[in-house]
Amino acid sequence: MTQPSRSAIFAGSFDPPTFGHLNILERSLKVFDRVIVAVAADISKAPLFSVDERKQILNEIIPSSPQVEIDNFNGLLVDYAKKKNVRILIRGIRTVADYEYELQMSLANRMMNSEVETVFMMTEGRYSHISSSIIKQVIALGGSGKDMIPELVEKRIREKLCTSSVKG
Ligand code: COA
Repeated sequence: MTQPSRSAIFAGSFDPPTFGHLNILERSLKVFDRVIVAVAADISKAPLFSVDERKQILNEIIPSSPQVEIDNFNGLLVDYAKKKNVRILIRGIRTVADYEYELQMSLANRMMNSEVETVFMMTEGRYSHISSSIIKQVIALGGSGKDMIPELVEKRIREKLCTSSVKG
Protein backbone atom coordinates (compact mmCIF):
# COMPACT_ATOMS: atom_id res chain seq x y z
CA MET A 1 0.00 0.00 0.00
CA THR A 2 1.44 3.42 -0.86
CA GLN A 3 1.84 5.76 2.06
CA PRO A 4 0.55 9.35 1.83
CA SER A 5 3.38 11.85 1.38
CA ARG A 6 4.34 13.66 4.54
CA SER A 7 5.16 17.35 4.58
CA ALA A 8 6.37 19.45 7.48
CA ILE A 9 7.17 23.09 8.14
CA PHE A 10 10.46 24.09 9.72
CA ALA A 11 9.83 27.73 10.70
CA GLY A 12 12.19 30.13 12.39
CA SER A 13 13.76 33.54 12.35
CA PHE A 14 16.89 32.25 10.61
CA ASP A 15 18.67 35.53 11.36
CA PRO A 16 21.02 34.06 10.23
CA PRO A 17 20.65 30.30 9.66
CA THR A 18 23.32 28.23 11.42
CA PHE A 19 24.79 24.74 11.16
CA GLY A 20 22.30 23.86 13.92
CA HIS A 21 19.37 24.75 11.65
CA LEU A 22 20.93 22.90 8.71
CA ASN A 23 21.41 19.82 10.88
CA ILE A 24 17.73 19.81 11.89
CA LEU A 25 16.70 20.23 8.24
CA GLU A 26 18.98 17.42 7.06
CA ARG A 27 17.59 15.05 9.69
CA SER A 28 13.99 16.13 9.02
CA LEU A 29 14.41 15.16 5.38
CA LYS A 30 15.06 11.60 6.51
CA VAL A 31 11.67 11.55 8.24
CA PHE A 32 9.50 13.71 5.97
CA ASP A 33 9.08 13.65 2.20
CA ARG A 34 8.96 17.41 1.96
CA VAL A 35 10.05 20.21 4.28
CA ILE A 36 9.10 23.86 3.95
CA VAL A 37 11.72 26.10 5.50
CA ALA A 38 9.64 29.13 6.47
CA VAL A 39 11.19 32.45 7.42
CA ALA A 40 9.03 34.32 9.93
CA ALA A 41 8.51 37.99 9.18
CA ASP A 42 6.86 38.84 12.50
CA ILE A 43 9.43 38.20 15.18
CA SER A 44 9.99 39.88 18.52
CA LYS A 45 13.76 40.30 17.97
CA ALA A 46 15.04 43.13 15.75
CA PRO A 47 16.57 41.21 12.83
CA LEU A 48 19.94 41.93 11.24
CA PHE A 49 18.74 40.65 7.86
CA SER A 50 15.49 41.42 6.05
CA VAL A 51 13.12 38.54 5.25
CA ASP A 52 14.30 38.56 1.61
CA GLU A 53 17.94 38.49 2.66
CA ARG A 54 17.32 35.56 5.03
CA LYS A 55 15.52 33.69 2.26
CA GLN A 56 18.35 34.47 -0.15
CA ILE A 57 20.92 33.12 2.33
CA LEU A 58 18.88 29.94 2.84
CA ASN A 59 18.64 29.47 -0.93
CA GLU A 60 22.40 29.77 -1.18
CA ILE A 61 23.30 27.34 1.61
CA ILE A 62 20.62 24.67 1.10
CA PRO A 63 21.24 22.48 -1.94
CA SER A 64 18.32 22.78 -4.35
CA SER A 65 15.99 19.80 -3.99
CA PRO A 66 12.37 19.01 -4.85
CA GLN A 67 12.03 17.97 -1.20
CA VAL A 68 12.75 21.47 0.10
CA GLU A 69 10.81 24.69 -0.34
CA ILE A 70 12.11 27.97 1.05
CA ASP A 71 9.35 30.42 1.82
CA ASN A 72 8.37 33.21 4.19
CA PHE A 73 5.23 34.00 6.10
CA ASN A 74 3.54 36.84 7.96
CA GLY A 75 1.31 36.46 10.96
CA LEU A 76 0.59 33.26 12.80
CA LEU A 77 2.43 30.07 11.97
CA VAL A 78 -0.75 27.98 12.39
CA ASP A 79 -2.50 30.11 9.76
CA TYR A 80 0.42 29.65 7.41
CA ALA A 81 0.37 25.88 8.04
CA LYS A 82 -3.32 25.80 7.19
CA LYS A 83 -2.74 27.77 4.01
CA LYS A 84 0.01 25.32 2.98
CA ASN A 85 -2.15 22.35 4.00
CA VAL A 86 0.58 21.07 6.32
CA ARG A 87 -0.12 19.75 9.82
CA ILE A 88 3.37 19.10 11.15
CA LEU A 89 5.72 21.72 12.57
CA ILE A 90 9.35 20.83 13.24
CA ARG A 91 11.28 22.43 16.08
CA GLY A 92 14.80 21.85 17.28
CA ILE A 93 15.45 21.73 21.03
CA ARG A 94 18.93 22.58 22.32
CA THR A 95 18.57 22.87 26.07
CA VAL A 96 16.14 22.55 28.96
CA ALA A 97 15.53 26.29 28.65
CA ASP A 98 14.45 25.77 25.03
CA TYR A 99 12.07 23.04 26.17
CA GLU A 100 9.99 25.39 28.33
CA TYR A 101 9.65 27.96 25.56
CA GLU A 102 8.93 25.32 22.93
CA LEU A 103 6.33 23.62 25.13
CA GLN A 104 4.46 26.91 25.54
CA MET A 105 4.66 27.61 21.85
CA SER A 106 3.46 24.17 20.80
CA LEU A 107 0.57 24.29 23.29
CA ALA A 108 -0.44 27.75 22.10
CA ASN A 109 -0.30 26.58 18.50
CA ARG A 110 -2.48 23.57 19.34
CA MET A 111 -4.97 25.78 21.13
CA MET A 112 -5.26 27.87 18.01
CA ASN A 113 -5.40 24.87 15.68
CA SER A 114 -5.80 21.39 17.15
CA GLU A 115 -4.96 19.81 13.79
CA VAL A 116 -1.36 20.97 14.09
CA GLU A 117 1.29 18.73 15.68
CA THR A 118 4.79 19.83 16.67
CA VAL A 119 7.60 17.33 16.22
CA PHE A 120 10.67 18.04 18.32
CA MET A 121 14.18 17.05 17.37
CA MET A 122 17.08 17.21 19.78
CA THR A 123 19.82 19.45 18.41
CA GLU A 124 23.13 17.61 18.08
CA GLY A 125 25.40 18.26 21.04
CA ARG A 126 28.03 20.09 19.01
CA TYR A 127 25.43 22.73 18.06
CA SER A 128 23.57 23.00 21.34
CA HIS A 129 25.59 26.00 22.57
CA ILE A 130 25.11 28.16 19.49
CA SER A 131 22.42 30.64 18.59
CA SER A 132 22.07 33.24 15.87
CA SER A 133 22.55 36.07 18.42
CA ILE A 134 25.73 34.56 19.80
CA ILE A 135 27.13 34.16 16.29
CA LYS A 136 26.33 37.76 15.35
CA GLN A 137 28.05 38.93 18.52
CA VAL A 138 31.14 36.78 17.91
CA ILE A 139 31.52 38.09 14.34
CA ALA A 140 30.87 41.70 15.38
CA LEU A 141 33.66 41.41 17.94
CA GLY A 142 36.14 40.02 15.44
CA GLY A 143 35.79 36.30 16.20
CA SER A 144 35.31 33.45 13.76
CA GLY A 145 32.04 31.65 12.97
CA LYS A 146 33.88 28.50 11.90
CA ASP A 147 32.04 25.36 13.06
CA MET A 148 28.90 27.43 13.72
CA ILE A 149 27.85 28.82 10.32
CA PRO A 150 28.71 28.21 6.67
CA GLU A 151 31.44 30.52 5.28
CA LEU A 152 28.91 32.30 3.08
CA VAL A 153 26.81 33.21 6.12
CA GLU A 154 29.87 34.59 7.89
CA LYS A 155 30.66 36.68 4.79
CA ARG A 156 27.10 38.03 4.66
CA ILE A 157 27.18 38.96 8.37
CA ARG A 158 30.49 40.79 7.92
CA GLU A 159 29.14 42.69 4.87
CA LYS A 160 25.96 43.57 6.73
CA LEU A 161 27.75 44.76 9.85
CA CYS A 162 30.06 46.82 7.68
CA THR A 163 27.22 48.57 5.81
CA SER A 164 25.27 49.11 9.06
CA SER A 165 28.28 50.76 10.72
CA VAL A 166 28.92 52.93 7.64
CA LYS A 167 25.26 54.03 7.67
CA GLY A 168 25.19 54.46 11.45
N1 COA B 1 20.84 24.69 16.59
C1 COA B 1 21.36 25.84 17.01
N2 COA B 1 20.63 26.93 17.25
C2 COA B 1 19.33 26.89 17.03
C3 COA B 1 18.71 25.73 16.57
C4 COA B 1 19.52 24.60 16.35
N3 COA B 1 19.02 23.47 15.92
N4 COA B 1 17.40 25.97 16.48
C5 COA B 1 17.20 27.22 16.87
N5 COA B 1 18.36 27.78 17.20
C6 COA B 1 18.53 29.13 17.74
C7 COA B 1 18.39 30.21 16.72
O1 COA B 1 19.62 30.56 16.18
C8 COA B 1 17.76 31.33 17.52
O2 COA B 1 18.75 32.10 18.15
P1 COA B 1 18.48 33.61 18.59
O3 COA B 1 17.36 33.59 19.62
O4 COA B 1 19.76 34.03 19.15
O5 COA B 1 18.06 34.36 17.36
C9 COA B 1 16.96 30.62 18.60
O6 COA B 1 17.49 29.32 18.67
C10 COA B 1 15.50 30.49 18.28
O7 COA B 1 15.40 30.39 16.91
P2 COA B 1 14.30 30.00 15.89
O8 COA B 1 14.28 28.55 15.68
O9 COA B 1 14.52 30.82 14.70
O10 COA B 1 12.99 30.31 16.59
P3 COA B 1 12.42 31.66 17.02
O11 COA B 1 12.07 31.48 18.43
O12 COA B 1 13.27 32.80 16.66
O13 COA B 1 11.15 31.72 16.07
C11 COA B 1 8.97 31.09 15.30
C12 COA B 1 10.08 30.89 16.30
C13 COA B 1 9.30 32.07 14.21
C14 COA B 1 8.69 29.77 14.68
C15 COA B 1 7.75 31.58 16.13
O14 COA B 1 8.08 32.76 16.80
C16 COA B 1 6.54 31.79 15.28
O15 COA B 1 5.85 30.87 14.94
N6 COA B 1 6.28 33.05 14.89
C17 COA B 1 5.12 33.39 14.06
C18 COA B 1 4.04 34.08 14.88
C19 COA B 1 3.28 33.09 15.68
O16 COA B 1 2.63 32.19 15.19
N7 COA B 1 3.33 33.29 17.01
C20 COA B 1 2.67 32.44 17.95
C21 COA B 1 3.56 31.30 18.35
S1 COA B 1 2.82 30.42 19.66
